[in-house]
Amino acid sequence: MLEQLEKIEQDALSALEMMDDQEALESWRVAYLGRSSPLMAVFDQLGQLPKDERPAIGRRANQVKQSLELKLDEKTEKLKQVELRRALETERLDITLPGRAVSLGRLHPITKTLRKVYQIFAEMGFQVYLSRDVETDEYNFQLLNFPPHHPAREMQDSFYIEGEFEEDNPLLLRTHTSPGQIRAMREYSAANPQDPPPVRIILPGMCYRHEQVTARAESQFTQVEGLAVGKTITFSDLKGTLSDFNKRMFGENVRSRFRASYFPFTEPSAEVDIECFVCGGEGCPVCKRTGWLEILGCGMVHPIVLQNGGYDPSIYTGFAFGLGPERITMLCYRIEDIRYFWANDIRFLEQF
Ligand code: PHE
Repeated sequence: MLEQLEKIEQDALSALEMMDDQEALESWRVAYLGRSSPLMAVFDQLGQLPKDERPAIGRRANQVKQSLELKLDEKTEKLKQVELRRALETERLDITLPGRAVSLGRLHPITKTLRKVYQIFAEMGFQVYLSRDVETDEYNFQLLNFPPHHPAREMQDSFYIEGEFEEDNPLLLRTHTSPGQIRAMREYSAANPQDPPPVRIILPGMCYRHEQVTARAESQFTQVEGLAVGKTITFSDLKGTLSDFNKRMFGENVRSRFRASYFPFTEPSAEVDIECFVCGGEGCPVCKRTGWLEILGCGMVHPIVLQNGGYDPSIYTGFAFGLGPERITMLCYRIEDIRYFWANDIRFLEQF
């Protein structure tokens, strides 16, 4: 019986050598380890053997079974590797297949408008000055000639920032870009307090107002402030600069209109309209039948504001303006709802 087991093992192992694919291995398994294999027959006969021979034969039969199973596993793994290598060698990459299109990103519509505004004012000699988003009550209101209980403060309900601050001077998110006027003038005048240099800057940035969000008003939006300070600046410089801006922004033939208005930090103040470019001034839904579109607020820098910036108002004058890129973009592209701009819906953004 032991010799028989030796022979079964020898036969099985030399047969295994010849097997060279998974299918052949399976038939080998059936032949040498399956139900009706000679090895299983040995197990079946164990019961009929004399009692004293059983343990030795049984142990040997188990060894043979384990050794065959182990060799089968090894061979299976080896064949897998061979087949994998063969597959890699025969597969070819078809480089003539068309590639997958990459979808390009694009500029946000407000970025496009801002860049056009920068371009126009750069050609007129204005530099970009970046001021901060987090301001103090002092810079956002007080230095701009808003007294503590001035009703104009009601126009701009603010986001206040909690924390430690001086009494009556809480931190807040700027409600307009105008506090940058003071920061810029103070920086310029500090360089030469006796004879401060002229200023010609635009100040773009985000502004924040604690308002009901509607199709017309967002709690976060951009503004571009403008400031020119010098010894001979007059209201006609303001009118010329802004009329010229409107022509470059909206078209050579566009007419501008200056309407008297009020801001605490400018005197006199005005709002600027352009003739409606949708209807040419006839009156339509975009201009609400008035023929005019309101574009920006402006005025001559208030003497108190010049003083607060370090510029002697008996020597210096200046003009300032503030425009809203969202509003301009809405008019140019006929966008009906300001909330689209910062909702980040790709279906809106990919149209520009
Ligand atoms: N800061 C004003 C606003 O937010 C706009 C403005 C800027 C008006 C500069 C006049 C001069 O409405």
